[in-house]
Amino acid sequence: MQASGYMKVVKKKEEVRDALEDISRIGFVPTMGALHEGHISLIDASRKLKLYTVCSIFINPTQFNNATDLDAYPIDIEGDLKLLEAAGCDLVFIPNKDEVYTQSIEDPKYLHDFGALETNIEGAFRPGHFKGVGQVVHILFEIVQPHSAFFGEKDFQQLQVIRKLVDMCNLDIDIVGLPTVRESDGLAMSSRNRRLTPLQRSHANLLYEALKYAADELGQSSVEDINEHVEDMFKNDPELRLEYFEIIHASNFERMHQFEGQKEVRGVISAYAGEVRLIDNKQLA
Ligand code: PAJ
Repeated sequence: MQASGYMKVVKKKEEVRDALEDISRIGFVPTMGALHEGHISLIDASRKLKLYTVCSIFINPTQFNNATDLDAYPIDIEGDLKLLEAAGCDLVFIPNKDEVYTQSIEDPKYLHDFGALETNIEGAFRPGHFKGVGQVVHILFEIVQPHSAFFGEKDFQQLQVIRKLVDMCNLDIDIVGLPTVRESDGLAMSSRNRRLTPLQRSHANLLYEALKYAADELGQSSVEDINEHVEDMFKNDPELRLEYFEIIHASNFERMHQFEGQKEVRGVISAYAGEVRLIDNKQLA
């Protein structure tokens, strides 16, 4: 898509409000930077709807339950700005921590209870993660005040948490979920892929292979047999360590024990390649 011309880059909330003062239709894409085609697909979706497109880049400390992961998170602002400019993004907001958390980081206004959606699956392995995501996205929504906000299905549980946030807080924002952008071998694009060694990278598409296997087998084999087979796929791979594979109900992320033709069924998976934690998911039915 053609660049629209001049892209503004700002650090302060007041500058965001000033820039958006006369804008009537705003599309918002929150990110943590180290951007790739997956992020850019969200910018494209906003631009296609002819929205004035705002992207934020902020590595939110409150959603990292693991300090090493936070420290290792890739940063590439220069590369990000080039990609955003080429994609035709209108405004980039790059705040620091004090700018986002003006109030106490414990301000209950932004700390929501998402119930099972925040404690199941990813939430069980990353305690507090979704609370931190809900917190920062709520604050960013207040600053940007978008009409639509764009999120990737790559982080499907996060997308459901955001939908619940908007619902619980009665926010008048249209949440748009977009399909996962993948490398040619099926690996879901992720900022974390930059940290993989070439050997790990060549094995990393196993997550998607497992999800495709589950999609093919659901309805033919039992959920238990599918789970076992996926575990074996990983046991036979020296570069990857499976953390979880589950077949779940998409609405609440509860585990599904038996498939009886239900709709909105997803496979969700997480595995480590060395220190790098990868996640993926796929609609199975
Ligand atoms: P980040 O991981 O930078 O992702 C920003 C957005 O890009 C999310 O909506 C994510 O789902 C989407 N995305 C990432 N990889 C994608 C891919 N391969 N295909 C499609 N979309 C993809 O998610 C976060 O940041 C943070 O949790 C955030 C929402 C910004 C809150 O801090």
